[in-house]
Amino acid sequence: MTEPEKQADGCQWVLRVSDAKKTFEDGTAALKGVRLEVRRGEFVVVLGPSGAGKTTLLRSIIGLERLTAGEVRLDGAKVEPSSLAEVRSKVGMIFQGFNLIDNLSALNNVLSGLLDTRGNLATLFYVFKRSDKLRALQCLDQVGLLDKAYSAAGKLSGGQRQRVGVARALIRQPRLLLADEPVASLDPMIAFTVLSLIKEICAKQGIAVICNLHQVDLALRFADRIVGLSDGRVLLDEKAGAINQDYIREIYAGHGQGMYFGAGDAPSDEFVHLDFLGSGPLP
Ligand SMILES: Nc1ncnc2c1ncn2[C@@H]1O[C@H](COP(=O)(O)OP(=O)(O)O)[C@@H](O)[C@H]1O
Ligand SMILES: [Mg+2]
Repeated sequence: MTEPEKQADGCQWVLRVSDAKKTFEDGTAALKGVRLEVRRGEFVVVLGPSGAGKTTLLRSIIGLERLTAGEVRLDGAKVEPSSLAEVRSKVGMIFQGFNLIDNLSALNNVLSGLLDTRGNLATLFYVFKRSDKLRALQCLDQVGLLDKAYSAAGKLSGGQRQRVGVARALIRQPRLLLADEPVASLDPMIAFTVLSLIKEICAKQGIAVICNLHQVDLALRFADRIVGLSDGRVLLDEKAGAINQDYIREIYAGHGQGMYFGAGDAPSDEFVHLDFLGSGPLP
């Protein structure tokens, strides 16, 4: 195994993305030279309008997209076909649409997070070791759903389903958690709860997080660092406290009249127009 890269201050980079470019076969250039470095335990929000390249960036990190140029390193190991199994074993994923199997219990959905790291028996029949089952219960407990372990995932509420999604990512004991618009399908209050849970657990366990969001308020509330992506390029990479309206305007420039300031699929009155923001500090 490759040694984690060391920064000048002795911290370890979990992830380094250097000059990542991705042009799809139809000629669409989704990433045009992206650089991104993430430290252990850091919560990084990638903020940007639809089509900015956020999903392509996350998919490239685990090798679901092959970069046209540049490279991704996880714990110092280059992401390439020969390293994919090892790379993916260190990464947990959380999806916008939850991606649960509705007729399986919450517990088995969490265990499914281990399938690609276990043998054929587990894959075919959901036969897991006692230690795996105990770990799955522990992960459900961490997200506050121990009492729903044997409930079918399809019977749970949206917020509960995404908490199962978080537990399924955690059971892998990841170094890095990738979340692609994890709360876009949830009500604002539930979105807040789910992000709080992810932030708290990952900070405690030293798991680095890259979370794609399009809601500015949530990004400012939860991010340690915000990376602004627009048209395949990083327009800003700053500590959340340093972000001001000019930065936000820049990320969303040319993408309609406004930017999305609410959480979840909120009605259009939560769509705050840039002109209404004035020039003071962001809320
Ligand atoms: N498989 C694909 N083939 C061609 N173009 C794609 C493909 N996937 C994404 N794109 C394009 O790449 C750009 C970035 O997409 P995406 O990464 O999904 O952005 P975001 O997640 O920020 O909305 C968009 O123009 C999108 O249409
Ligand atoms: Mg996307």
